[in-house]
Amino acid sequence: MSVFLGIDVGTSGTKSLAVREDGTILASSTMEYPLSSPKPGWSEQNPEDWWTATQAGVAAVLQRARIKPKEVKGIGLSGQMHGSVFLDKQDAVVRPALLWNDQRTAAECAEIEQRAGGRKALIKLVANPALTGFTAPKILWLRNHEPRNFDKTVRVLLPKDFVRHRMTGEFATEVSDASGTLLLDVRQRRWSRSLLDKLDLDAGLLPAVYESEEISGRLSAAGAAALGLPPGVPVVGGGGDQAASAVGNGIVKRGVISATMGTSGVVFAHSDEVQIDPAGRVHTFCHAVRDKWHVMGVVLSAGGSLQWYRNQLGQAEVATAATMGVDPYELITAQAAQAPAGSEGLFFLPYLTGERTPHADPYARAAWIGLSLRHGKSHMARSVIEGATYAMRDSLEIIKGLNIPVKEIRLSGGGGRSAFWRQMQADIYGQKVVTINAEEGPAYGVALLAAAGTGAYRDVVQACEATIQVATQTVPKPAAKRTYDACYPLYGKLYRSLQPDFRAIAQLVGG
Ligand code: XUL
Repeated sequence: MSVFLGIDVGTSGTKSLAVREDGTILASSTMEYPLSSPKPGWSEQNPEDWWTATQAGVAAVLQRARIKPKEVKGIGLSGQMHGSVFLDKQDAVVRPALLWNDQRTAAECAEIEQRAGGRKALIKLVANPALTGFTAPKILWLRNHEPRNFDKTVRVLLPKDFVRHRMTGEFATEVSDASGTLLLDVRQRRWSRSLLDKLDLDAGLLPAVYESEEISGRLSAAGAAALGLPPGVPVVGGGGDQAASAVGNGIVKRGVISATMGTSGVVFAHSDEVQIDPAGRVHTFCHAVRDKWHVMGVVLSAGGSLQWYRNQLGQAEVATAATMGVDPYELITAQAAQAPAGSEGLFFLPYLTGERTPHADPYARAAWIGLSLRHGKSHMARSVIEGATYAMRDSLEIIKGLNIPVKEIRLSGGGGRSAFWRQMQADIYGQKVVTINAEEGPAYGVALLAAAGTGAYRDVVQACEATIQVATQTVPKPAAKRTYDACYPLYGKLYRSLQPDFRAIAQLVGG
């Protein structure tokens, strides 16, 4: 049987997955690399680390599943979105890439709005407002702050497309990831010449745009040698990690929504038409399904908030977990489960790295509010998980407000693996939530895109129908749902009250 490789160039590591044509996972491998934050709010990585991790990951899965190189019939690429890889004439990296969670570009976002003729005009051109994490403001930042590097730059690529270039020699991207650059005419699914002109950017900086299923190139002799595969293996467009993860979760038709908690949290809805939030609180991007779109809300620190809690306040649980041979998150959620729903009036705002949806506020910061002598670690842990989940509900409410039907919510990431968090999500969203049989997220989604794009399936929708089924269902508990419905409006109000103070805090620390 044919084998397809799905590769996801993530923020903490690159995951490589080998999937059989019928959807069976044969082997998986994750190779990690560092992230650097040279200044507060900056977030960078070395693109060469992604390529090194890809080579090691592909070698590992081929070896683990004893796959013969010639059995590999297609490769799909996914990756962290919005990152900017700047390449010079020799295809060498000019400076470390600025990542999706980098917050240095507030001034450039204002510049883009102004050059585009205002926020409304910008949303009309590219369906979204300028957000600090997006790629276009990063290109302007380079021009404004590192003009020598800007002058050297002849190409700007997204993270997975840098890896594609190393594999195939092609400069190519696909519609879903390209949407997150802020330079794509999302309605027409091609670069917005009009915005590029207004920003005074050369269209030649950008790669060719494909649909996600389309073959974007084939392994070059050098790429094939580096991966231990035969030259000529097709590499399909793939998808930004969110669209790819949605495909991996079967979010390829109306009414099915996903809520994924990784470091960031994402609520993702398929849409048959271009649906734009006039306030620009959720993103409208092309889907990895041909001629479809999606709407998504992004919570910057969802699982990331719990990870911060584990690292800073969960040292005891981490140490105990090591002696018991269990995951520290199991101990932390067991502790959280000892506090009642609503954490007895303790709220956590999860804005550790600012926030995207719904506030688009790089200055927002996290906070515990309502602490009293009564509160202990169980309340603190629970309130962190609740805060991240309220933030996800914010996105869900906006999506419902756009008249997108929400018939089924599929959970994935850490929030889907934990039974405690599944129940909390059902209670806070006020709706049944399900998980599915496939847990491999974006890497699985792009392996399916590779299978569809090379003819193993009619299209990606058929590939999903053939491989993905619902595994668990969780319904809301009425008492907890009532508590959360009472807490949720207050959660929103706390941010609004603190918003000016967050900006003052940023000024205080020079942010
Ligand atoms: C999506 C987003 C993140 C990154 C990191 O808009 O910024 O999900 O793709 O994974």
